[in-house]
Amino acid sequence: MRRLDVCALAELPDGSALVVRDGLLAIGVYNLGGELYALEDRCSHDDGPLAEGELDAEAGVAVCPRHGARIDIRSGRPLTLPAVLPVETFPVRIEDGRVLVELDA
Ligand code: FES
Repeated sequence: MRRLDVCALAELPDGSALVVRDGLLAIGVYNLGGELYALEDRCSHDDGPLAEGELDAEAGVAVCPRHGARIDIRSGRPLTLPAVLPVETFPVRIEDGRVLVELDA
């Protein structure tokens, strides 16, 4: 298990998002009401950068800036077309005040 150091927890306040990169992989990290979530920053429809779109923090939804698919940040599942496949999600931990994303390899 590899951990990606994202930022200090204080740098990711409630209702905000940021993108962290690991090589070619971009991951959006979101704070929804104090709970942290991470999903690949690539829409399953046509690779739109999800974190650049509108964030509906109350609903926990990222709106793809390319064609408007609504993606459930907690599960990665698309809620509306044109996306139909889920977006990969990653576990997030907080350790010593740092936000860490866990990667498989
Ligand atoms: S790339 Fe996201 S809806 Fe098309």
